[in-house]
Amino acid sequence: MEISKNIPFLDLIAPHLELESELTDVFRKALHTAGFVGGFMVEEFEQAFASFCAVGHAIAVSSGTDALRFAIMASGVQPGEVVLTVPNTFIATTEAISQAGAMPEFIDIDERTCNLSVEKLQRYLQEQCDQDKSGKTISKRFGRPVTAIVPVHLYGQMADMDAILELAGQYGLLVIEDACQAHGAEYFSKKHNRWMKAGSMGRAAAFSFYPGKNLGACGEGGAVTTNDPVVAAHVRLLRDHGQVKKYYHDVEGYNGRLDAIQAGLLCAKLPHLSAWNTKRRALAAEYAHLFATCGFVTIPYEPSWSRSVYHLYVIRVAERDELMDHLMAAAIGTALHYPIPLHLQNAYSHFGYHRGDFPITEQVAAEILSLPMYPQLTAMQQARVAEEILSFFPASHPGRWKGIDISPVHVKSHA
Ligand SMILES: Cc1ncc(COP(=O)(O)O)c(C=O)c1O
Repeated sequence: MEISKNIPFLDLIAPHLELESELTDVFRKALHTAGFVGGFMVEEFEQAFASFCAVGHAIAVSSGTDALRFAIMASGVQPGEVVLTVPNTFIATTEAISQAGAMPEFIDIDERTCNLSVEKLQRYLQEQCDQDKSGKTISKRFGRPVTAIVPVHLYGQMADMDAILELAGQYGLLVIEDACQAHGAEYFSKKHNRWMKAGSMGRAAAFSFYPGKNLGACGEGGAVTTNDPVVAAHVRLLRDHGQVKKYYHDVEGYNGRLDAIQAGLLCAKLPHLSAWNTKRRALAAEYAHLFATCGFVTIPYEPSWSRSVYHLYVIRVAERDELMDHLMAAAIGTALHYPIPLHLQNAYSHFGYHRGDFPITEQVAAEILSLPMYPQLTAMQQARVAEEILSFFPASHPGRWKGIDISPVHVKSHA
């Protein structure tokens, strides 16, 4: 049998075939009970996911975008208020903020982690905001109260939550985690003197179960996690047309429930998530080893307080587009997360941002390349990905490779 040379960016078939009988049992259970919306499969998953995230409540909803919108609304952000986040994320983060009636305002990222820069957040709060008579933080740009921060745990690595929560406390802001890429990621909190899970540190958090996520449904799905029973109750209302019981509507809500079949599938997959995350971490360590002698590849930076779950393995290289073409020619799939920062998207042209407003995000966007990263990636496949990348550089930089007159374009991993 000929072995396929094609290495996909993502393999969504193999992990499902491994669990085929458990997953098809879920369909059978739903067919036999007609339990399609709500019911025991959703409740079972909510309990299991709350326990996985070490939180009091998990509320299953229909997508990560809904989860974030509901988390923002239920945490108390009011229409017209300003919510701070990064321009280096998927547009769902800012869609959720806008659709909750608030206005997103951007803070640039940290060059090493690619997550929210605490230093820039502090500078923004000191220099770009005023305090009104009642002590509220007011954005000078919008002339409106700033009430929340949405740190995004991008690529599977948590933002620096102790520092963010500290600043949020000083300025009276809520923190709502966008944990859509970070199922199982951990942060060592000096304040609590222990490792804490993504989704357990803010007022509330949002997860996505889009199929390619570390924990993915076979369709759309999401969840809000929180330790606050009032927030949890409000999210339950929002996801189900504002109903307290059938046809009794306390507020206008949404059709934002998770299908029971998706909940059942997620329940069947959840016991495997920790092992899958461990495999991803091992693959990340191996990539780091394979690129150790290459001065042209900047590997992801993991601070000592972080245990990333490597939803994505994102390197940085100067000749990104050329390398991407080179890998495509070698039948190796790659992707960009994300090529156009949000402040430069047409959708946000009305905010009047310009190129140069968030220089680190812009630089990162030009250099990032996401490599194949999934638990089923074999050692041979990974070695071939690295080999193709390493073979790209000697030709582009003759004489500046493997210890011969190396003057790297990047500082390796900034460690
Ligand atoms: C950072 C981030 N936030 C929010 C979302 C939205 O999740 P969903 O696609 O499930 O609506 C995603 C999904 O990719 C994401 O990556």
